Amino acid sequence: MTADGGLSQVAIVLGTRPEIIKCAPLIKACDRRGVDCLLVHTGQHYSDDLDQVFFDQLELPAPDYNLEIGSRSHGEQTGRMLEGVEDVLDEHAPDVVLVQGDTNSVLAGALAAAKSNIPVGHVEAGLRSFDRDMPEEVNRVVTDHVSEYLFAPTEETRGYLERESVGGRIVVTGNTIVDSLYEYRELAAEKSDALAELGVEEGEFYLLTAHRAENVDDPDNFARLLEGVSRFARETDREVVYPIHPRARSRLDEFDLSVPEEIRAVEPLDFLDFLRAESAAALAFTDSGGVQEETCILGTPCVTLRYSTERPETAYVGANCLAGLDPDDVVEAGSTMLGKAADWDVPFGDGRAAERILDTLAAGTEPDAAEVPT
Ligand code: UD1
Ligand code: UDP
Repeated sequence: MTADGGLSQVAIVLGTRPEIIKCAPLIKACDRRGVDCLLVHTGQHYSDDLDQVFFDQLELPAPDYNLEIGSRSHGEQTGRMLEGVEDVLDEHAPDVVLVQGDTNSVLAGALAAAKSNIPVGHVEAGLRSFDRDMPEEVNRVVTDHVSEYLFAPTEETRGYLERESVGGRIVVTGNTIVDSLYEYRELAAEKSDALAELGVEEGEFYLLTAHRAENVDDPDNFARLLEGVSRFARETDREVVYPIHPRARSRLDEFDLSVPEEIRAVEPLDFLDFLRAESAAALAFTDSGGVQEETCILGTPCVTLRYSTERPETAYVGANCLAGLDPDDVVEAGSTMLGKAADWDVPFGDGRAAERILDTLAAGTEPDAAEVPT
C-alpha cells in the first residue's frame, strides 16, 4: 500500500497462452496508473508459440519471475507452482494477487496467496461447466472460494457465485478478452497475412481448435471429433484449418491417428494471425473456452465440441451451439450455424474490464462503484 492507503503493488500470476492474452489489459492498466505490477510466470506453457510470441506481440514486459515448472502431472505441477509462488510472495508481499481463468497456474497462484494472507482477485470468476471431471472446473471452484475479489464477467456468472455463497466481493466487470480484442482486432485485419499464408479465402474455410484433455486424451473421442468436423467440411465442400495445440499433436502421434484430408493441421498461430483467421472463418469448431468467447465477439458462428460449457451466454445470444462429439450432431450443428447472421449482442462487456478491476482494487471497500452498468 502507498502511504495514503492506495494500491502500490499488484502481483499477477499466470502460466498459459490464454492467461497471457487475457492478463495483458491488466498489465497495461497497471502501467498507465503507475501501479507496480509484479509478474510471476509459472512456466506451465514454455514453447515459444504458446508463450514468448504473445509477450512479444502484445508488447508485454518480461516476467519478473519465471518458475519454469513445465509439464507434469496435475498434482506435481500444481504443488511445485504453489511452492514457487509462495517464495515470491514472501519476498515481495504485494497488496493483492490477481489470477485469471481456470488453469493449474491459477489454482496454485490463488492458494499460495490465500495461505500467505494476501488478498486474491479472481478475474473471470464464477464460470461453471458443472462437470467436476474437468480439471478446470475444480480449479475454478476452489479459486473462487479462496478469493477476496470475484471479478465476474457477466450477470450469469455473478448468479452462480451468489448461489454458492462464496465469501468474497463480487463485481461484474465484463471479460478482459473484450479489452484485448478491441485493442488488437483492427491491427490483425491490417497487419496479418494469415489468410494468404494459410492459402484460404475470407469466408471460405472453417477454423478448428481442439485441445481439451477430455477430447484429445481419449482416442475414440478424438477420432469422433475429427470425423464430425471433416464430414461437415466434405458435405459443404470447404477446407478446415486446425492450428494444433502441442497436447493434441502428441496425442495424434501416440494414438497413431491420422487427420482426415479435409482438415489441415498447422502450427499454433500467433495472436494477430489467429484473430484474422477467426474473423474470416465461415464457422469455428472448438473445445476452447477463449475461442467460444472470441468468435461471439468477432461475429463468427461457433460450434462447440463438448457436452457442457461454462460460457452459456454465447449460446443464449445465438452465437454458439453445443454439439458434443457425435459426428451426426456435429454435422447438424454445423448446418444450423453456417451462414447465421451475426446480429447477436456481445454478453462480455464493453472492453473496460481491466479498468474496472483496478478501480475496484483501488477503491477497496467500495467495489460496486466500478461495475458494468446494466
Ligand atoms: C492447459 C490448461 C487448460 C487450458 C490450456 C490452454 C490446466 C489443467 N489445463 O492445458 O485449461 O485450456 O492450458 O492452452 O491447467 N506442451 C508443450 N509446450 C508447452 C506446454 C505444453 O509442448 O509450452 C505439451 C506437453 O506435452 C504437455 C501438454 O502439452 O504435457 C499439456 O500441457 P499442460 O500445460 O499440462 O495442459 P494444456 O493441455 O496446455
Ligand atoms: N490462440 C492463438 N493461437 C492459436 C490458438 C489460440 O493465439 O493457434 C488464442 C486465442 O485467440 C485465444 C486463446 O489462444 O485467445 C485461447 O487459448 P486456448 O484455446 O489454448 O485455451 P482456453 O481458452 O481453452 O483455456
